[in-house]
Amino acid sequence: MMADRRADEISLKRRIAELGPWFHNLRIRGVETAPDHFLGDYPSFKWAAFEEAIPSDLEGRSVLDIGCNAGFYSLEMKRRNAGRIVAIDSDPHYLRQARFAAEETGCDIEFRQMSVYDVAKLEQRFDLVIFMGVLYHLRHPLLALDLLYEHVVGDHMLFQCMQRGSAQEPQLQSNYDFSEWDVFEARGYPKLFFIEDRYADDPTNWFIPNKAAVEAMLRSAGFVIKSNPEREVYLLTRGQRHYAVERPPSICPVS
Ligand SMILES: C[S@@+](CC[C@H](N)C(=O)[O-])C[C@H]1O[C@@H](n2cnc3c(N)ncnc32)[C@H](O)[C@@H]1O
Repeated sequence: MMADRRADEISLKRRIAELGPWFHNLRIRGVETAPDHFLGDYPSFKWAAFEEAIPSDLEGRSVLDIGCNAGFYSLEMKRRNAGRIVAIDSDPHYLRQARFAAEETGCDIEFRQMSVYDVAKLEQRFDLVIFMGVLYHLRHPLLALDLLYEHVVGDHMLFQCMQRGSAQEPQLQSNYDFSEWDVFEARGYPKLFFIEDRYADDPTNWFIPNKAAVEAMLRSAGFVIKSNPEREVYLLTRGQRHYAVERPPSICPVS
C-alpha cells in the first residue's frame, strides 16, 4: 500500500516535471507545480488578497477564463460551484498543463486554444469573464477590451493588469485646448509605457499602463469599475461604451 502510494507520487512528480516549466504554482494531490516561482506562491498569494470580491457560491454561473494559463482561476471558480467554464489560452504549452490539472482534480472545464482576439467565435456571453494578466501582453489592448465588451462579457469581468508609473488619481477636465501641453506631464495623467524590446526578460510585454490609464481604458471600453480589491485587480460590470468608440471589426483568420 505504502509502496503503491510512493510509486504514484513519483509518477505524478515526473509528469509535472515533463509538463514544465509552470507559471502557476498549483497543488495537485499535494505536489506543487512551481514551488520555486520568482513571485513566490503565485497566484495563490495574489488570489488571497481579492478572493472576497467573488461570491463564495457562484450558483452555476457561466465563466470564461481568458489567458487561463494552467487554470488556477478556473479551478478556483469550479470550487466555488461555477457552472459551465470555458478556459482559453493562445499557448498550447499552458493548455496541456491546464488539461492535466483539471483531469487530476476531477474538474469539468472546457479548454480551447484560442486568442482573445477570436472570442466572437464563442458566440456566447458569460456571467463572469476572467481577464487576468493578459492586457499588457497584447499589441492591441483596446481592441481586446472592445471585443470582450462586444461579444462575451454578460455581467461581470474580473480584470488584472500589471501597472507601472504613478498610481496618483488625476483631476482631469473632459477637454483641453490644443495649446495645452503641461497636463500631459502631470504625474497621474493616463499613460501607457511602450516596451519596444523586453521587460522582465519577456518580449511579449508591450504596453504597461499606469493606474489612471488602466481605469480610463476600461471605462472607455464600456466597463464600470465596481471595486478595486487589490492594487492591480478590478471587478467590473457592463456600462455604456464611450460615445466615440466604434464597434470592433470582425476579425477573420487568414488560412
Ligand atoms: C501572465 S499570464 C496570466 C495567467 C493567468 N491569467 C493569471 O492571471 O495568473 C498570461 C497568459 O495569457 C496568455 N496569452 C497571451 N496572449 C494571449 C492572447 N492573445 N490570447 C489568449 N491568451 C493569451 C499567455 O499564454 C499566458 O498564459
